[in-house]
Amino acid sequence: MGALTGRNLLSLAELSPKEIAELLNLARDLKVGKLKPRTDKTLGLVFSKASTRTRVSFSTAMFQMGGNVLDLNASISQVGRGEPVQDTARVLSRYLDAIAVRTFAQADLETYAQYADVPVINALTDLYHPCQVLADLQTLQENFGDLKGLTLTYCGDGNNMAHSILLGCALTGVNCRIAAPEDFQPLPEVVEQAKALRIDPNSEITITPDPQAAATGADALYTDVWASMGQEDEADDRLPRFTPYQINDNLMKLANPQAIVLHCLPAHREEEITESVMEGPQSRIWDQAENRLHAQKALLVSLLGLL
Ligand code: CP
Ligand code: NVA
Repeated sequence: MGALTGRNLLSLAELSPKEIAELLNLARDLKVGKLKPRTDKTLGLVFSKASTRTRVSFSTAMFQMGGNVLDLNASISQVGRGEPVQDTARVLSRYLDAIAVRTFAQADLETYAQYADVPVINALTDLYHPCQVLADLQTLQENFGDLKGLTLTYCGDGNNMAHSILLGCALTGVNCRIAAPEDFQPLPEVVEQAKALRIDPNSEITITPDPQAAATGADALYTDVWASMGQEDEADDRLPRFTPYQINDNLMKLANPQAIVLHCLPAHREEEITESVMEGPQSRIWDQAENRLHAQKALLVSLLGLL
């Protein structure tokens, strides 16, 4: 039984700096095979949006430990026909040992957590994507060692990724700069929350419309799609607004020469990131995708109390 056993993960803000550090250490030990936890438990995936990495990394993590997974996307369960979250959460809790939910409103996820009596994991909402950021921090740590004092610059939409990056950086001492068009900046309440959670009150949190200034001297450049799931019909209108925020060879020249490039994926090449940067020597995007497996396994081990 650890400090996270039986808990939910709805936002990174629920984790203490020590808990995040322990999750990252556990993810590292799992990656190198130092620990080989076993389980006979069952994870349910209740996804109302598409997913490759989150679905497969959580599933593989459970299978590698001997556990089971039920993929319950909305179209094959009664969720798609409107069965209330309150009922679904209580029923699933009688069968499953943990539930990962990918949905639109954070409020729906919170309702799952309120009514379920097993851990509920945020597998992405419109507001946050905490599981992704655990893998991102693991990737930064692999490349730079100590996270404290690094500078991560995120260019693009002030979306779920930007929100979780702000919180994850604050809780690990990483300076965080978000460059986004004026109308697409992160929610002020999330920025304020990140500021309040900083482990180092002097660490930087900058929200700016200027991608060049934000990229200058950064240790990591990070981007995500310009139109998230559910915003597909805005994609064409957004394109000209976001073009200055593309991560390309010119922006890379402003960053630290040792800087790494991250993208949560899926990517739209030549929109938010060029092919040359994605496939270039500073890209750690494929390691980052692999680390979803290790970070998600660390999370499951902790929430299910498997060590
Ligand atoms: N990055 C990420 O969460 O990818 P999926 O949408 O494929 O799960
Ligand atoms: N912001 C993206 C992240 C995908 C992993 C989305 O919500 O679609």
